[in-house]
Amino acid sequence: MRIKKAVIPAAGLGTRVLPASKAMPKEMLPIVDKPAIQYIVEEAVKSGIEDILIVTSRGKAIVEDHFDRSPELEDRLLKAGKVKQYEELKKIAELANISYVRQKETKGLGHAIMCAKSFVGDEPFAVLYGDDVIIGDKPVCGQLISAYEQYGLGTVGIKEVSKEDIQKYSSMKVSPLKNNLYKITDMIEKPKPEEIMSLYSILGRCVLPSKIFAILENTPVGAGGEIQLTDAMKELSHTEGIVGVDFEGTRYDMGNKLGIMKAAIEVGLAHPEIGEGLREYLKTLVDKL
Ligand code: UTP
Repeated sequence: MRIKKAVIPAAGLGTRVLPASKAMPKEMLPIVDKPAIQYIVEEAVKSGIEDILIVTSRGKAIVEDHFDRSPELEDRLLKAGKVKQYEELKKIAELANISYVRQKETKGLGHAIMCAKSFVGDEPFAVLYGDDVIIGDKPVCGQLISAYEQYGLGTVGIKEVSKEDIQKYSSMKVSPLKNNLYKITDMIEKPKPEEIMSLYSILGRCVLPSKIFAILENTPVGAGGEIQLTDAMKELSHTEGIVGVDFEGTRYDMGNKLGIMKAAIEVGLAHPEIGEGLREYLKTLVDKL
């Protein structure tokens, strides 16, 4: 079955990037000239996704405005002859069929995914975390969809992280399948040092069968007092296994301050408009460090 639906959870409180995220959703923080969530929607579209559900919450209506038409602005740009900017702006509203649902209480990523149950129905679907931007030639969501099509099992994007970082993320029990693909038979969210099974962690992307909803409904509150998606996927890994894709692409965690700065610098350096200027500036700066 072709995967054409994606869910982008973007309802979190973003406490690690306060005060920036007090009134501005962290998913809307820009990397150079585009909000993080636009990179994510574009990745989904490049991966063949047609219908996207963004899970929002109070104070996040600005996300909806961003993907809507902006007739006044478009008109002004046209009249000023700024056709390129006009086209670019109009395109944002035409990227995909985007709908929204509100997570009324911030009860965790697993709970946010449950809010997508009626949107998803009984098809497999992709999940792209709203604060994880991954830049690369091949869209990561598409890499996971290919693995799903190959194995008919849920797939997750994984990368090896440091021992310090893994305790903030999740740890996977892996065995090699082929190339960059691994079978995952167990996982744990926010492991203590003695619980680490490997340094492979899920980073921001998965493709899941709809049976995950039945599992989520019976998933108790886990790490951090939240309903964890990892706990539900863990059950799936026990019963039928999950495929881990050690994906190609550079991931920027827009949920922490250093991640935001790294994204700005690296994407800025590759940007056709400001890349050269930023490079020169950084060179002068480095001499003073
Ligand atoms: P995070 O755990 O990184 O987001 O969730 P958070 O809870 O906002 O982070 P901190 O710890 O307070 O800084 C990953 C993604 O899941 C969404 C977030 O918006 C983010 O895009 N999320 C998280 C929800 O949609 N609902 C939740 O209840 C929790």
